[in-house]
Amino acid sequence: MAIEAQNVEKSTITRLPIYQKAGLQHTAALSQARKIYIETYGCQMNVSDSELMAGILTQSGHRTVSHLDDADVVLLNTCAIRENAETKVLNRLKQLNHRKRRDPELIIGVCGCMAQHLRDRLVEAAPYVDLVMGPDAYRNLPMALNAVTNRDPFLGVRLDKSEDYADIAPIRKEGIRAWLTIQRGCDKMCTFCIVPFVRGRERSLPLKLLVEDVEKLVEQGFKEVVLLGQTVNSYRYESQNRENTPTGTSGSDFGELLHAVSNVNGLERVRFTSPHPADATDSMIDAMANSPNVCNHLHLPLQSGSTSVLERMRRTYTAEEYRDLVAKLRERIPNIVLTTDIIVGFCGETEAEFMQTYEMMADIRYDSAFMFKYSDREGTLAHKAFPDDVQETEKGRRLREIIALQEKISAEINDAAIGETFTVLVEGESRRDANRYYGKTDGFKTTVFPMANSAVGDMVDVCIESTTAHTLIGQIVL
Ligand code: 5AD
Repeated sequence: MAIEAQNVEKSTITRLPIYQKAGLQHTAALSQARKIYIETYGCQMNVSDSELMAGILTQSGHRTVSHLDDADVVLLNTCAIRENAETKVLNRLKQLNHRKRRDPELIIGVCGCMAQHLRDRLVEAAPYVDLVMGPDAYRNLPMALNAVTNRDPFLGVRLDKSEDYADIAPIRKEGIRAWLTIQRGCDKMCTFCIVPFVRGRERSLPLKLLVEDVEKLVEQGFKEVVLLGQTVNSYRYESQNRENTPTGTSGSDFGELLHAVSNVNGLERVRFTSPHPADATDSMIDAMANSPNVCNHLHLPLQSGSTSVLERMRRTYTAEEYRDLVAKLRERIPNIVLTTDIIVGFCGETEAEFMQTYEMMADIRYDSAFMFKYSDREGTLAHKAFPDDVQETEKGRRLREIIALQEKISAEINDAAIGETFTVLVEGESRRDANRYYGKTDGFKTTVFPMANSAVGDMVDVCIESTTAHTLIGQIVL
């Protein structure tokens, strides 16, 4: 199917309902309309991919349901980044197998990164699984559903660099925030990371198409768009047609895309995740500094504060270069909110190397951080090159230490916000209190406040009066 996407001149692609594209329906005449429940694990990219899967399935006559009990097909869209992500899904599969014993017609599919990682080993571990579909195989989902028999499971695990799903319209949940995939795959080859092996090589979607998508999202009522990519700021689209790029050159980079998207009329906010520090170009920083609706929040994964560990991780920057980048960002965008990802206990990490991470976190003072113990993943470069030699208990101790440090810093930063006023985009009713709304600040901090006369989708100014561990609490000021 993907051959078809190659044949279409990329600059002319618009997102068509897929039945308008030749191929799919012809090879997969609908034998039975199914009710499909999609359960999503892992990152935002998976959330976005589930919307894509829903688009593909709906266009071929199936429908998605929001409760497992109503479904005759359940698709788990999975993650492979750490071992515990896979363990969680294996446990979920066991539960689903109980249901399948009662209801043998139930089709169970495993999609996404874990499917791509384990392939047929997944079927060995869970022989009752009917479909195993990797991230580049979703176009074949309707065909696979038709092909499912009681005999062999359907395996779709071919990675395909030409597959960008550019022609497919995702089905999004209603709300104020839409996720928009601008790039798939990853070429970075960090030694700890499974992503390049399960999501394949990097490919970017056409800038013109993405800007049109954002225009449509605004028309549909979305107020905020989050641009998504595995290393989102390495976005690069080469066009044969110079008219498709804002500068009339042959290619567009992330800064140009950010700038073009931020100019879409009516778009209140644009965010992006996750960038790679090595691709934090001036063009990206300029777009952030100069466009008021590009949020001043950067999730900038550090991974380690030790240059020698960063080298073993093949992160392509030193601790010094990262510090310089942070200094430059803070100079150009004074109120920038910085968040990060940290891995402790990577292969060979000494106490001294760990302490460099600790000190760097103490110096930089991130607003928040996702922190992980290193998890050895079969298939990665580190798995082949280095022993996973930091003891589990030691990984645990290091993790607890940086979590305690970060909690303290986050609380201090939040407390310093008391008395300040932030513009918040209203998202919905607070789960704990039906008289309050919640929303995010420009820096992506959850804020809770009495509704006053505001409505979902409004931008309101909230003066902060108190904080809890990860939330700002205040009142709307007029
Ligand atoms: N072990 C632990 N954490 C990992 N990450 C990626 N691969 C691994 C691994 N093997 C973390 C990184 C990355 C985030 C998405 O997950 O910090 O930025």
